[in-house]
Formats: sequence, structure tokens, C-alpha cells
Amino acid sequence: MLVNGKKMLEEARRKKGVIYHFNINNLEWARIILEKTNAMHKPVILGVSEGAINYMGGYRVVSALVRNLIDELHIENDVCLHLDHGSSYESCKMAIDAGFTSVMIDASKKSLEENIKETKKVVLYAKEHNVTTEAELGHVGGIEDDVNSTILLADYDECLRFIRETEIDSLAPAIGTVHGIYKGELHIDFDLIQKLRDNTSIPLVMHGGSGLSHDILRQAISCGITKINVNSDMQYVWAEAVRDFIKNNPSVYDPRKIIMSGRDAMNQFIEEKINILDNEK
Ligand code: 13P
Repeated sequence: MLVNGKKMLEEARRKKGVIYHFNINNLEWARIILEKTNAMHKPVILGVSEGAINYMGGYRVVSALVRNLIDELHIENDVCLHLDHGSSYESCKMAIDAGFTSVMIDASKKSLEENIKETKKVVLYAKEHNVTTEAELGHVGGIEDDVNSTILLADYDECLRFIRETEIDSLAPAIGTVHGIYKGELHIDFDLIQKLRDNTSIPLVMHGGSGLSHDILRQAISCGITKINVNSDMQYVWAEAVRDFIKNNPSVYDPRKIIMSGRDAMNQFIEEKINILDNEK
């Protein structure tokens, strides 16, 4: 069932569990993630970046695709369709109007005042449409960045003010992770996560969930992270499997077989991530 992120994230926060946000890039990825998480009876967030939305043909295409897959495949677990890193109010509005159930407004590169102003505007529109919201404070580095030079850790007091003034549903504070592959040494600010968890009441989000050991992920969850965003690791796992398939099956040219040859590897990856808390001992 398509839902917003509120109930699943609040429940996970209360139980010190985690909800995964897996990015989708096409029909096959959406289908694989939906079927696998449904088989595991786990709620999931399908994150879609503006680049992926553009690639797939637009906000309404993505929304219709996910809604109809849920329907036709009889997906019964809760699924949230989330705009990842919405770059503007207009982008968030287009996603909401198209039927996304959750949006992230990422004005983290702007000043705090501007970030608050833009986020408030998105929150207001989203609330009117029963859509949940996420925002970022500090700066999570990008794929091309060196880990040490681009992370601007979120400031604790600014986070409290931001949450209070924007009434955002969940916050992604920059805690030392980066999107994509790590080039430098990793320093995650677990104290900041813990302090925010203890003194706020909304779910905290980790961006840049790839390239991290299960121990680090578990520690982040135990300190207070409720949502973990994963994209690059799954792309890597899929690409490796497809590369192998093409190498070992040079006569196959059916795109369905080629794209779907990454399914088993993706399924295994999803299962390992979702089970990290159960497989702790
Ligand atoms: P990774 O690509 O590092 O997994 O980050 C994904 C992400 O944070 C999407 O918002």
C-alpha cells in the first residue's frame, strides 16, 4: 500500500529500528525492491532523485509506475514514494501534485535563514496534501568530493531551531557521511546523532548509506538514526552482476534478460541490509 512516511518512521524510531530508503532508477529496480521487501514483510521507502525522475520521463510517470506496480503485483507492505533531494519548492510541488507521498527539500547549500524559509513553504504545501517532509542541515558531500573537504557537519543548535521553526517531519543532519564512494577517512559524529535523538522528537535520516560497514550502520541506528538512504552500493552490486552476465552470455541480447540479471544480487543486498539488526549476535 502506498503511504506517507509518518507512521513507518515514527514506529521505527520508537522501536529503535530502521527503515531503508533505496533509490530507484527504472521499472526493474522499482519492481525488484517492491517484491523483495514485500516478501520480507518490511516497509520501504522508494527514493527518486530529480535525475532519475528526468531519466524515467517525469514525476507523473514515476508516480504512475510505482502506484500501478503496487497494484498489479499485489504489494501489501507499506511503501512510501519519496522525492530525494528536491532542489526547490517547485520541484517538491510537482512531486506532490503527481502523487509522491513524501518529499525532501534540500536547501542545505543556502543560508540557514533561506533554508528555513524554503523548507517552511514546502512543509505547508505538503501538510495540505498529507505528504511527509525531510530536509537537510549542514552538507553531505557528493560523489566527486573528498570526504574531508566537503562535509560541513550540522550544528546542534541550528538543528533544534530548524526543527522548531519549520515543523519538518524528519531531518537529515550532515553527520560525516558522503554520497557515493569514500575517498578519505570516515568520521561519523555519533555524539551529534545521540544528542539530537535525545532532545528532539522526529526521525533522523542518514544520507550516504553506502560504503559503510554493518557495525557502523548498527551504531548509527543505536544512537538514533531511523532512516538510511542507500543508492551507490546497490548500483555497484547490480552493475557487477550484469557485467558478469554479459561476459558469460555473449549471445544474449534481450534487454529484459540483461537488466534483470542483476536481480539476485540486488535481492541478496536488500536482504542483508534489512537483516542487519536481526543478525547482530
Ligand atoms: P549513497 O549513494 O552513498 O548510498 O547515498 C544515497 C543517498 O543518500 C540518497 O539520498
